Amino acid sequence: MPSKYPENTRLLIEEGLRKYFPKTRRPKEIYEAMSYSLFSGGKRFRAVLVVESARVFGRDPEFVLPTACAVEYIHTYSLIHDDLPAIDNDYLRRGKPACHTVYGEDVAILAGDALYSEAFRLISGVQEADDPRRIIWVINELATASGVAGMVGGQVVDIKSEGVDVDAETLDFIHEKKTGEFIKASVRAGAILAGATEAELDLLTDYAKYLGLAFQITDDILDEIGDTAVLGKTVGSDKRQEKATYPKVHGLEAAKEMAKLTTGNARDMLKGLNGDGSVLAGLADFVYERNY
Ligand code: IPE
Ligand code: IPE
Ligand code: MG
Ligand code: MG
Ligand code: MG
Repeated sequence: MPSKYPENTRLLIEEGLRKYFPKTRRPKEIYEAMSYSLFSGGKRFRAVLVVESARVFGRDPEFVLPTACAVEYIHTYSLIHDDLPAIDNDYLRRGKPACHTVYGEDVAILAGDALYSEAFRLISGVQEADDPRRIIWVINELATASGVAGMVGGQVVDIKSEGVDVDAETLDFIHEKKTGEFIKASVRAGAILAGATEAELDLLTDYAKYLGLAFQITDDILDEIGDTAVLGKTVGSDKRQEKATYPKVHGLEAAKEMAKLTTGNARDMLKGLNGDGSVLAGLADFVYERNY
């Protein structure tokens, strides 16, 4: 991992994921499929955001760990379903065969469903807060961001835009909804649990909006110029599926410029923060510089 990535936080999340993973093992196939996808690597970027945004307000990582792990469950569910033949038809994920290629589409769909439910079981059953209303608030934010008003809605426009000449506005809608909303909710979740005020949340929300857009722009760029071995997923997948991407709509060089500008904007939003935003700023740099 590059120096700007909070490696200790990532390791803590790996530990948390193991600790909270359901202990029952029947039916065997579903637990195997869930853990296969969950423990196959991954940057744990959204979970890291939960922890680091809580830390800005003086909260220890352990305090928000259940929610950070739940966020990673939801993200892993979204990847399993995204790779299905009916959606992106991808066979490589996190450097290994995609869930459905190993366990079949039927079990992969259910593994995604199960991870999604586990996420809300974990937050509602294990997460603590000074004011329990903050837990309900977080559940509401994550459900909204991953549902029809967020990720699911974005994924629908993404698949309906295959082979279509979309305008820049539609492209931004796709990126904001399928990826941006959940990244935003991850940042907000950590801050909400840590007791951030509305004004503090507003600042972080602006940061996260830019961060989420930049994250998907670089994902699109890496699909063109990345290295499959480093990325852990097949380069050129978007072209094959004629996806609406930043390089397709704006051109590769303009897309790189926009990623740079957008991560710079994310960084700028942290300036008003009354707390140490240096790790979050480093994560914005990471999004621009990443090659995986
Ligand atoms: C991939 O997310 C899916 C997108 C929304 C772009 P990541 O690049 O965070 O994937 P992992 O978790 O590190 O594998
Ligand atoms: C995925 O976007 C967004 C999700 C909600 C999973 P992509 O389809 O571009 O993600 P990758 O490139 O397959 O990881
Ligand atoms: Mg997709
Ligand atoms: Mg995909
Ligand atoms: Mg992609």
